[in-house]
Amino acid sequence: MSKQILDDPEKIEAIDKSKMLSFCVNAARLYGEGASLAAKIQVSYPTPDNIIIAGMGGSGIGGDLLKDWARNKLEVPIEVNREYALPQYAGKKTLVLITSYSGDTEESLGAFLDALKRKCMIFCVSSGGALLEHAERLRVPFLRVPGGMPPRAALPYLFIPLLLGLEKMGLVSGASEELSESLKLLGKISKDNAPEKPATENFSKTLASNVGKTAPVVYGFGIYRAVAMRYKQQFNENSKIPAKWEVFSELNHNEIVGWENAGELGKSFSAVFIRDEEEPVEIRTRIEITKELVGKLGLRSYEVQGQGKSVLAKMLSTICIGDFTSVYLAILRGVDPTPVKTINYLKDARKRNGVREKILEELAKLH
Ligand code: PA5
Repeated sequence: MSKQILDDPEKIEAIDKSKMLSFCVNAARLYGEGASLAAKIQVSYPTPDNIIIAGMGGSGIGGDLLKDWARNKLEVPIEVNREYALPQYAGKKTLVLITSYSGDTEESLGAFLDALKRKCMIFCVSSGGALLEHAERLRVPFLRVPGGMPPRAALPYLFIPLLLGLEKMGLVSGASEELSESLKLLGKISKDNAPEKPATENFSKTLASNVGKTAPVVYGFGIYRAVAMRYKQQFNENSKIPAKWEVFSELNHNEIVGWENAGELGKSFSAVFIRDEEEPVEIRTRIEITKELVGKLGLRSYEVQGQGKSVLAKMLSTICIGDFTSVYLAILRGVDPTPVKTINYLKDARKRNGVREKILEELAKLH
């Protein structure tokens, strides 16, 4: 796909009408604001036996990032819940973090109701909606974040408070230092991938143009599991293309066979490998063999390298590149990255079946 359009500010402005690109350009500032918001968190819960983060789409991904980041630090199990109800083990000793940017997402409200019924320790992060209305009345602690953004662009406001909130509770350590490193790095990445940087020197513009008309398949591993998921979500919602994500080494046990007879179909996909200078040797060899295999089977392969020293910096640096790439790809495809009309259509259609009303009625009865 021709990259020229990405060097034309007028064309970018005409397509990116609601300025999704500005969230990528301002990543360092927004993640810094996420930290300032987190400073307001006041919780006095005892150490939980387990943690559940309940959220969907752009709000749920923060939970997955937290889970990956905390894997080698947190002493208690952590799970992301994308159901209307919580898993059976959830109870009084479970810390439930409800994240919904709008505060009106049906599944998140259902999980909130279930957490209340099970007398879990609850904390909500949202810009408002029914979630905060009920949290306020029921005296459930919450953090209100600024509204008016697409939920996926509000990741810094949703994820960083979860991270620093756990640190405040003494459940993890090192988050603040890792965030300081990340903010410096994000400032640099945003400059290097900004619209003013010509495509010839701009990694994200180049990756977007390479992915072009294909459907990206994003391969992550370890700390880049949820990062790969975020890429897929951003390609879907910003670029409006089908995309999928998989993780090493599981993908070597099924996914890889799927390309065997793909034939012409294989040419419709590109593989994007998330890599890291410090990737474990067992993963490195798997990535290299897989790259070779998918290449032979007709897929084009690209790589994104994690940057920085800390786990958080590595995660946020790759996310920032993916966010930029998905917006540039939208621009190349001539689609406005911001509106998600199918999600909105579905949410409206769901409202008509009464499930949401029933959840809200039950919540109201608890006052
Ligand atoms: O990015 C989006 O718009 C969606 O993925 C939403 O995040 C998702 O539908 C959940 O909505 P909310 O984030 O308001 O809870």
